[in-house]
Amino acid sequence: MSSATAPGKVILVGEHAVVYGHPAIAVPVWETVATATITDAPAGHGCVISAPDVNRHVKLAAAGDDEPLALITRLTLAALGAAANPDWQITVHSQIPIASGLGSGAALSTALVRAIYLQLGHQAEPAQISALVYASEQLYHGTPSGIDNTVVAYGLPIWFIKDRAPEIFRAHQPLTLAIADSGIAAPTKETVGDVRRGWQLDPVRYEDWFAQIGAIAQAARQAMAVGDRATLGALFTQNQAILEKLGVSSPNLQRLITAALGAGAYGAKLSGGGRGGNMIALTDPAYANRVTAALLAAGARNVIVTTVGPADPA
Ligand code: MEV
Repeated sequence: MSSATAPGKVILVGEHAVVYGHPAIAVPVWETVATATITDAPAGHGCVISAPDVNRHVKLAAAGDDEPLALITRLTLAALGAAANPDWQITVHSQIPIASGLGSGAALSTALVRAIYLQLGHQAEPAQISALVYASEQLYHGTPSGIDNTVVAYGLPIWFIKDRAPEIFRAHQPLTLAIADSGIAAPTKETVGDVRRGWQLDPVRYEDWFAQIGAIAQAARQAMAVGDRATLGALFTQNQAILEKLGVSSPNLQRLITAALGAGAYGAKLSGGGRGGNMIALTDPAYANRVTAALLAAGARNVIVTTVGPADPA
């Protein structure tokens, strides 16, 4: 039996602009994870992938490439030169809400790829895993930048520019984030597609907004390097203002952001594709409970408090 886990993720700054070549910062969220377990099955069973949480059972031999779990399994088996339909029962579970901006698809695929590597006795290198997961992310996102698969496969904070190797980096001081779920599912593919349509109609204006977001990401990196939480929080809020112009915020997200700021957060913004999904608030650890309570009172379905540390997660 082989079992593997992968974390959720949040984008601290730079979503959407990252699709157009600007830098972004993303961090793993180990408080919410996806797991994949593989057990050997009797001869003739073939490979079956089950997601009991959503009552989905996929026979690998019969599934098309539009089925993301089948596609990623097939790609991984081919990359490792393994038999195309091994006698395996694969079971996947995810605590990460779907279409919430927390990288649920990338986490499930990453856990699955890692479990297949383990089952076949291979060492799973983050860069290889990330490349395989990217192929399946194209199904979820259409034109993904690659940031989700990268942060989830590395499981560490990253500075990311499309088509370049990620830079792993540390915050100078621990950063406390409250991550609140608006409860509204919003597929990233749709918001990325809408932003693309806007950009096609008015490239000059959109490219200016993307460049402003890129500059915010650069400034955020500096603020994290010196542990300046107040500046980082202000940059979150500036980034949110541009995401609103891009049309990817929503009244529910705005309500949560206002609540977090009112409870004393340094800054707050949506995270990921937007429209629904999650928002993040940077808070002093002493205010984390107060910010969490304010977010729940403002309608958050769930709040996760996580720390982005100078050290690697345990
Ligand atoms: C999604 O987590 C981040 C987006 O920038 C899309 C992408 O980078 O592929 C919205």
